[in-house]
Amino acid sequence: MSAFGTIAKGHAMSASQVPSRVEGYAIVSEDGMLANSAGVMPDALKFKADQAFFERGLDGVDVVVHGRHSHEQQRHSDLRRRLMLTHRISAIAPDPSNKRALFWNPAGANLEQAMAVLGVPEGSIGVIGGTEVFGFFLDRYDVFYLSRAPAVRLPGGRPVFPEVPGRTPEEVLARHGLEPRQKRILDVERAVAVVEWHRSAKTK
Ligand SMILES: NC(=O)c1ccc[n+]([C@@H]2O[C@H](COP(=O)([O-])OP(=O)(O)OC[C@H]3O[C@@H](n4cnc5c(N)ncnc54)[C@H](OP(=O)(O)O)[C@@H]3O)[C@@H](O)[C@H]2O)c1
Repeated sequence: MSAFGTIAKGHAMSASQVPSRVEGYAIVSEDGMLANSAGVMPDALKFKADQAFFERGLDGVDVVVHGRHSHEQQRHSDLRRRLMLTHRISAIAPDPSNKRALFWNPAGANLEQAMAVLGVPEGSIGVIGGTEVFGFFLDRYDVFYLSRAPAVRLPGGRPVFPEVPGRTPEEVLARHGLEPRQKRILDVERAVAVVEWHRSAKTK
């Protein structure tokens, strides 16, 4: 039984009411994990330059989208509109503790409906995890910013996408129509870099 009243189901959407841009942000270990085997993101995956990159990225989107364990906890978090995925409601429900946030169950309402209820039907979104949420958007990313920490291994951890470690994160992105473009070194000493994966023109 839902803990929250459902506030929307079955909105009629026009074709123009889609997010203007879908971005993904993740930092992963050498073995493609975003958290350790206890489901916790260890300090070993936290780098000042990557966190600054992530924060700037989220300051540039209209809506942050994440699962129940992946709030970004940044300085501007309270100012951001957000959608939090959960099975605890049937479709879309308000977050009683945050007027800029909604709980969203994609099984009961689509993204366009959730964005409309949030008041930004054509806004841009930043998807920030975790595993299932990153996987859910694989066919919708315009760009995925994949940061890598090559010296860190998290055996048995939470993978960035459900198909990892059977495939590498890069193979998964490529199989879903994204291709690598710009690479930026974020931390020279620890060889942390971010690669921008863009949707190829063929799959748009
Ligand atoms: N390194 C990185 O870049 C990065 C990125 C993101 C997260 N993390 C870390 O990863 C860990 C959490 O990972 P996680 O995969 O467990 O987190 P998560 O996606 O934040 O949380 C999982 C929960 O989100 C909800 N959810 C996910 N997919 C859903 C769907 N399709 N429909 C409805 N609800 C859905 C469910 O909530 P209910 O149980 O309420 O149904 C599920 O139990 C944390 O330590 C976090 O800090 C790291």
